[in-house]
Amino acid sequence: MDDSKIIIRTPRLILREFSMEDASSIFQLNSDPEVIRFTGDEAFKSVEEAAQLIRDYDQYKKYGYGRWTILSDDPSEYLGWCGLNYNKDTKETDIGFRLLRSQWGKGIATEAAAACLDYGFNQLGLDKIIGRAMKENQASVRVLVKTGMRFEKDFDAHGSKCVQFCKLKYIWNPKD
Ligand SMILES: CC(C)(COP(=O)(O)OP(=O)(O)OC[C@H]1O[C@@H](n2cnc3c(N)ncnc32)[C@H](O)[C@@H]1OP(=O)(O)O)[C@@H](O)C(=O)NCCC(=O)NCCS
Repeated sequence: MDDSKIIIRTPRLILREFSMEDASSIFQLNSDPEVIRFTGDEAFKSVEEAAQLIRDYDQYKKYGYGRWTILSDDPSEYLGWCGLNYNKDTKETDIGFRLLRSQWGKGIATEAAAACLDYGFNQLGLDKIIGRAMKENQASVRVLVKTGMRFEKDFDAHGSKCVQFCKLKYIWNPKD
């Protein structure tokens, strides 16, 4: 593996920048209707479409961060992705995660998301990170809650009821 692309290590995981070798795994990930059910995304038509997404992905260059590939530490296997996304229109950074279905229910998203929040606040100097999910997507909402994010607002997207959570770097404490 190209170590220069590694961003975060956790006890079980390695998060690194997307790489062309992820194309077939990203294709496989988004081919599972259960995985994209609550995301508003469509499946790629081919591995080449997934490869094009990786080639076009310019968040690292533009903003210094983005979504990252999650690999298990040992043996090194593709698990999915997690990371931060800057939205230039709202000037907000959100956290997102997506795992192969075979990897659900092992606490992987929580471990990866907690590490990304920590990295966002303490390495990137972000003040606020939001997390959005469809209300129906209880697993996703639960990950946001477990990483210490707080409910901020309801909103509608893709014809569904959604929730926005957020976490602040500094919590104002009147006793301080
Ligand atoms: C959302 C997702 C990343 C969660 O990954 P994960 O590694 O399984 O998450 P974790 O194991 O860290 O935590 C999941 C929590 O949700 C809970 N959960 C899972 N399915 C649930 C459901 N249908 N209803 C209620 N809670 C549920 C789990 O019990 C766990 O909580 P607990 O630790 O308190 O028991 C994974 O389900 C996924 O990839 N989904 C498809 C993509 C997606 O929807 N991404 C989010 C878009 S906003």
